[in-house]
Amino acid sequence: MRKSEVIVSSHRNNMSDGLIEVDPSVLNTDGTDYETAGYETSTQSLTSSVNQYVFENGRRYHAYYGIDKNVMPTDEIEQDRLDLHHESMLQMLKGDLYKAPLEEPTRILDVGTGTGIWAIDMADKFPAAEVIGIDLSPIQPRWVPPNCRFETDDAEQEWTYDPNSFDFIHLRNIALSISNWPFLLSQVFKCLKPGSWIEHCELGLVVYSDDGSVPDDYAAKVCMQLISEAMNKIGRPPCTQESITQQLKDAGFVDVQAYTYKQPMGPWPKDPRLKRIGAMSLLGGETGYAAYGLAPMTRILGMDPAQAERICAEAFASVKNKNQHAYSHYYVAFGRKPLE
Ligand SMILES: C[S@@+](CC[C@H](N)C(=O)[O-])C[C@H]1O[C@@H](n2cnc3c(N)ncnc32)[C@H](O)[C@@H]1O
Repeated sequence: MRKSEVIVSSHRNNMSDGLIEVDPSVLNTDGTDYETAGYETSTQSLTSSVNQYVFENGRRYHAYYGIDKNVMPTDEIEQDRLDLHHESMLQMLKGDLYKAPLEEPTRILDVGTGTGIWAIDMADKFPAAEVIGIDLSPIQPRWVPPNCRFETDDAEQEWTYDPNSFDFIHLRNIALSISNWPFLLSQVFKCLKPGSWIEHCELGLVVYSDDGSVPDDYAAKVCMQLISEAMNKIGRPPCTQESITQQLKDAGFVDVQAYTYKQPMGPWPKDPRLKRIGAMSLLGGETGYAAYGLAPMTRILGMDPAQAERICAEAFASVKNKNQHAYSHYYVAFGRKPLE
């Protein structure tokens, strides 16, 4: 057989689907083009690896542990936003990575580590400590300090770490994914050494202003209210200072302290540090409202994807208004496992 024949025949054999029939429902009868959202793109059946994703409304969601586990995307756009937000939170804590009164911790766990940026910074700060970050999604970098490592796992399953084995367990911005806080905190309690600290930090989803410049129909406020409504509907309410404090106390932690910080949503404050935080918040908002809002609004509230996208875009447009001075809250709470 001549070589060209082999190529032609193997090419033909690879065409397993034959001619592709057109779905008559997509044909243009009303002058509109394709929407970019609203199609089934699950890859669940294509691979059994931990790298399972679903593309939805133009964003990539991790799916290995189930598409509803995390309502936020973990794509590159979101990873950039998380790293930017880390910088903003460092500014908020005036350069500190935590508030708890730590003394040379030797074993640290970061739950829902995201890009791992906090864990990496902690590993640099405490070179003698072992720092572990866990996340549903394997999006952490490979090149990390030698005392830092990452694991892909669901923190809402029974933990296999040794009891009494960590000096510090940190959780930041994971509330929208967690269905059972008492269980998760019982695992933290079990695995902390007696006398050691948990710290839990969350963004509030309520929009405030001190000068009355933000009306009730302010688009960012409306967007956050819809996200809260969706999360309440599935039993994952956004945090308040009262709720994170009470959850720690209910789990058995003592010496609980909580702080509330104002996070400006634009660079309107006069104070240079708050202005920087506001500028980063504005920059993050370009993709952040959609990251927070699209899945809750479409999956949980059943909104049309185009409507959800419009609400998120309007939210971002509203925080660009220089005459409206909105801020949200950032909560930091920490507590200690009792010595006995
Ligand atoms: C909004 S990101 C915050 C990331 C990081 N904590 C930070 O502050 O930069 C939430 C992260 O928590 C992870 N996550 C959510 N639920 C989780 C669970 N049950 N177990 C482990 N990770 C989880 C998500 O995959 C996502 O990477």
